[in-house]
Order: sequence, then structure tokens, then C-alpha cells
Amino acid sequence: MQETRLDTDRIRAARRLIDPLFLDTPLYPVQGMEPGLGCAVSVKLETANPVRSFKARGTEVIAGRLVADAAREVVCASAGNLGQALAWSGRDRGLDVTVVASRFAPVAKLDRIRALGARLELVDGDFDLARDRAAAIARHEGIRLVEDSLDLETCEGAATIGLELVDAAPSFDAVLIALGGGAMATGVGQVLKTMAPGVEVICVQPLGAPAMTLSWRQRRVVTTDSTDTIADGVAGRRPIPAVLDDLLVLADDAVLVREESITAGMRMLLDHAGLVVEPSAALGVAAILEDRDRFAGRHVVTIVCGGNVDLARYHRWVGAGR
Ligand SMILES: Cc1ncc(COP(=O)(O)O)c(C=O)c1O
Repeated sequence: MQETRLDTDRIRAARRLIDPLFLDTPLYPVQGMEPGLGCAVSVKLETANPVRSFKARGTEVIAGRLVADAAREVVCASAGNLGQALAWSGRDRGLDVTVVASRFAPVAKLDRIRALGARLELVDGDFDLARDRAAAIARHEGIRLVEDSLDLETCEGAATIGLELVDAAPSFDAVLIALGGGAMATGVGQVLKTMAPGVEVICVQPLGAPAMTLSWRQRRVVTTDSTDTIADGVAGRRPIPAVLDDLLVLADDAVLVREESITAGMRMLLDHAGLVVEPSAALGVAAILEDRDRFAGRHVVTIVCGGNVDLARYHRWVGAGR
């Protein structure tokens, strides 16, 4: 395999820095979804932890290393889940955490960031504007900027999901991974391509936020002017070149799905698995729904990567198709 920025030994070392609360998450088949999807589906459940997403795997690594370097302050931009996770990881380690987010981010995410003790600054724009603002704060105040997916710790933390999938002695054929900045897809992809190369790595994005998928397909960075999706966790416009380079090595495919497939996926995960998930976590099921033939008769794992959702909106989305 061609070299990437990631390395399996570093991923194993990163795992030791993560609070066990976030590790060894359940992986189990959801047989009730089989008739509707035409294939066997297992979920890797990343929502049953204090921040309800996989992002704490990465922030535990970051915070652990920052404290070892005697750092006191850190700033990140976040669509909502990274900020919560960094606030959680920083709180007990005495780190001052600043999170910059869009004022249009889900209220539940913003409230939880504040409740965890982080300073929250809102920008009147989207996630990519928050990235610019966080970088400006870091420059101005001379503090560490955490850049999701660019900073290796964020990828290495997410990659530990891959170690757990491989340790489960994979009998599965493909893994479906929600694609935002790419930390999860490159991290998990690195482990699978190194240790279980027969497993297909498929990234999924909404049609309304396709920048990284278009970039992967065209093998060059493609940006978009705006995004239009309910999957707020993956709604970026400006892919990071170094992450795209890794994704080009590690992903077998990148697919785009419609909004109605995302809500149908959320509904299936509620009805058949009893899981309340945010839209980004239903992208994998959405991908199967849109291409049943591709997955027919196969065993597919989908990473259920987040469960932070505004309940009123959730009820509207999930109720709409009934
Ligand atoms: C729930 C959820 N799914 C998927 C993603 C996308 O992950 P990544 O940015 O690592 O590609 C995020 C990012 O914050 C997220 O919160």
C-alpha cells in the first residue's frame, strides 16, 4: 500500500491515551433491518458514551498529549461533536477549551459544549467560517489549534474504531463510513487496508455536502460555495489537501446520498435497533437503501457515529415518512 500520514504503531499508542469509556464499543447485527436492506448489517455503536459520538477518541489523544507538554489552552472549530468531545477531554485535565461553532449548529450540541465548561464562540456563518475564526484565535492568542482531520491525533483516535473492527475477526465485506473532514474515514481506512485489506472501505456523504466526495472522484480538491443538508456533522465545503491525499489511498469508494434516504435510515435505526441517531450517523444505511443491488447478500458494517440531535427536529424528520 502507498504511504499515508498514518501509522498502525502510532494508532496503537494513541489507543492507550483514550479513556476506556470510549473504547470497545458494541458491534452487533441488526437483523430487523435485513429485509428492508437486502443484506446483513452490523452496527458499530459510537453513541453510548458521555458525548454521544466517536469524536472523543481523538480528543482524548489530543488532550493527553497537550497535558504531557504542559499546555493549558486549546481552541478548535467544530460542527458540534468535536467541540463537545474536546470540552469533555479538557475538563478533567484542567485545560481551557475554546470552541468556535456556527450559530446554526444544533442547539443540543451548542448547549452541551457550554455545559461541559468550554468557552463557546459562535460565528454568523457555517463550519468553514468557524475554522477561519478558530485559526485566527489561535494565532492571536498563541494557543494550540486543533484542526479536525488535519491533526493526526484526530485521525489516530478515530482509527481505534478500526482496530476494534479488525479484532472482532471480521466476517464482514464492507464498512460504511460517514465522511466529513475525513478523520474517521482515513483512520478506519488505514487500519482496514493494513490489517484486513479484503474489506471494502466506502465513504458516504450527502448530495447536499459533496465537496470531499467530488474531490476524491476528481483526485484534486474541489470546494463548494455552500452546503444544504440535515447532516450537520459532515457539512464541509473546503476539503483539506493532505487528508484528501490519504483518502485517495485508503477509500475504495465515496458515494453521495439524498436527504430522504438519510431520514429513512434514521427511521430504520429507530424502528429496528431502538437507536436515536443524528443524520450523519444514518449515512451508511442511506447508502445501502440507494444501492441495494451492490450490497445484496453481503455483510456490511455501518459506524453509528453520533447521536446528538435536536429532538423536535428529529421527530419531524423521522415522523415525516410515516
Ligand atoms: C456524527 C458525525 N459523523 C461524522 C462526522 C465526520 O467525521 P470526519 O470529520 O472525521 O470525517 C462527524 C464530524 O464531526 C460527526 O460528528
